Amino acid sequence: MLPINTKKELLKKLNSLLENHTIGLVPTMGALHLGHASLIKRALSENDKVVVSIFVNPTQFNNQEDLIKYPKTLDEDMALIKAISSEIIVFTPKITEIYDNATVSKSYAFNGLEKVMEGAFRSGHFNGVATIVEALFDLIKPTRAYFGEKDFQQLCIIQKLTELQKIRVDIIGCPIVREPNGLAMSSRNERLNTLLRQKASFIYETLQAAKQKFGTENAHKIKGWVEYIFRKHTDFKLEYFEITDVATLTPIQQKIKNTKYRAFIAVFADDLRLIDNIALN
Ligand code: PAJ
Repeated sequence: MLPINTKKELLKKLNSLLENHTIGLVPTMGALHLGHASLIKRALSENDKVVVSIFVNPTQFNNQEDLIKYPKTLDEDMALIKAISSEIIVFTPKITEIYDNATVSKSYAFNGLEKVMEGAFRSGHFNGVATIVEALFDLIKPTRAYFGEKDFQQLCIIQKLTELQKIRVDIIGCPIVREPNGLAMSSRNERLNTLLRQKASFIYETLQAAKQKFGTENAHKIKGWVEYIFRKHTDFKLEYFEITDVATLTPIQQKIKNTKYRAFIAVFADDLRLIDNIALN
C-alpha cells in the first residue's frame, strides 16, 4: 500500500473504479491520531471507496513558525491507515501539484462565518482551508466528505463553501475524539510536555462547567467567569471564549427558544495554540 503523489495517478486510480461507486473523502494534514481514525472509519462504513489526503497546506497557516513545526509522520500515518484498511487510497501531493505557480489562496466570503473566532485571530486561515478543500473536491469529486467537530467553525465554512460554489457533496460532521483526560485530540498535542498535556484537561473541564452554567446563567456572566479563571491560571492564556448560535456563529445576545448554541475556546500553552468547543443545548 503506497501513497499516491500525483493528480494524474490519483485520477487513473479513481477512473478504474466501478461505475456508480461512492467515494468518501477525508482531508487531513497528517500526523494522524484517533480523531482522524474515527473519520476514516466512518467514511469506510458509508462509501465504496475512501480517499485520505495528507497535505500540510501552507496557505492556511497564518504563523510561519507553526507551519515549520507542524509534525510530519508519513510512515506512522500509513501504518495507522493500513491498520484500518489496506484498500484506502492515500493521496500525498507535493505543493506544486496543488498550487500551480504561486502558493496563494483564493478569496472567499462566507456570510460572516469567516469573520469571527478563528477567522478573527488567524488572518487568511479560512481562505487557505477553503482553497485546498475546494481543490480536493474538484479533483476527487467525492460523494461524501468527513470533517471533525473539533474544528467546528471549519466544518460550518466547508458546508457554506459547498452551498456557495454549488458543489455536490455531502458534508458529514463527526464528533470530537478526546484523550483520556478530556483534552481534544490534536496533531499539535505532541508538542506539549507531559505535565502541560495532563494539565490541559482544564480546557475541557472549563467547557463542561460552562455548559452546566448555561442552564441557569446568562452568557455574558459565563464569559466573564471563564476570563476570570484563565486570568488566574499560570499555564494557559485565554485567547477567546465565545458562546454562539451554531447556525451563524455570531455571539449570543440573549437565549432564543429552539436555537442551538455552542461554546468555543482558544488557549495558548506557551507558544502552542489549542482549540476546543462544546454543544450547550
Ligand atoms: P487536520 O487538523 O489534520 O484535521 C483533519 C480532520 O480531522 C479535520 O476535519 C478535523 O476537524 C478532524 N479532527 C482533528 N482532530 C479531531 C478530533 N480530536 N476529533 C475529531 N475530529 C478531529 O483540519 C485540517 O486538518 C485542515 O484544515 C484540512 C481540512 C485538512 C484542510 O487543510
